[in-house]
Amino acid sequence: MLIAQMTDIHIGFDPDELPEELNRIRFRSTLDRIIAGPNPIDMLVLSGDLTDHGDRESFEKTAALLADCPFPVYPMVGNHDTREELLNAFPATPTEGGFVHYAIEREGLRIIFLDTLEPGRHGGAFCEHRRDWLSAELDAHPDTPTLIFMHHPPVVAGIGWMDPGEDEDWMLRFGKAVAGHRQILAIHCGHLHRPMHTSIHGIPLSVTPSVAPLVALDLRDIDPDTPDGRNLITTEPATYAVHRWDGKSLVTHYEMVHKWHVLASYTQNLQPMIQSMFAERE
Ligand SMILES: [Fe+2]
Ligand SMILES: [Fe+2]
Repeated sequence: MLIAQMTDIHIGFDPDELPEELNRIRFRSTLDRIIAGPNPIDMLVLSGDLTDHGDRESFEKTAALLADCPFPVYPMVGNHDTREELLNAFPATPTEGGFVHYAIEREGLRIIFLDTLEPGRHGGAFCEHRRDWLSAELDAHPDTPTLIFMHHPPVVAGIGWMDPGEDEDWMLRFGKAVAGHRQILAIHCGHLHRPMHTSIHGIPLSVTPSVAPLVALDLRDIDPDTPDGRNLITTEPATYAVHRWDGKSLVTHYEMVHKWHVLASYTQNLQPMIQSMFAERE
């Protein structure tokens, strides 16, 4: 089973740039690659910040661009989204207690989609209600391999202007909820607009880079009172993830969507190399 993940699309960031806004071009080319590439995708996860302002028009535009997908799409809210408009554009999305969080099970893998939105706040949130929902979900399926998607990474990444504070309550609450649940194979996030990998309570935690422009890799301390001219946003290529589940293990791949060229193909010239690689397998 192949689960594609696109995150931080930010449709509506530059609506006056006609006829095609930059973020829409990046979204369209990423989606085209997922659909037309060699890997038969079983589902697509949109892990938040689908839009830039959470408005109806941007959500409707996003949903229209996804209308021809030959696989199911699972949307999630990010801090730039609004629950109301996400549900208007994607009315089949489940909710509970006013939050857009839900779980599905496919081919023996449980997939949990969390809601870390607090309207008006840039950073993440994970209130007691959401903690209780997640705890009940994890307690109910202790032996089912589980993959968690959430928009905000509940960790400090070292990119100061994007980071949460140290040990914010919502992060500690989330950490306690997942600690000790050995069925969780991985947590995949968005929001940071950069590839990043770490762990939380021994659980692998990764950020899929954005479809929209990326956040510059600059790990120096940053002073909110002193603009120092550093790079903040770059045109590094849009990227998506493919999470491959074979019934035993979960492996994650990333592909950049850019004007790249193929340097080698599987032809007779390269067949001896492929054959020798197979021959040494035990
Ligand atoms: Fe974002
Ligand atoms: Fe975000």
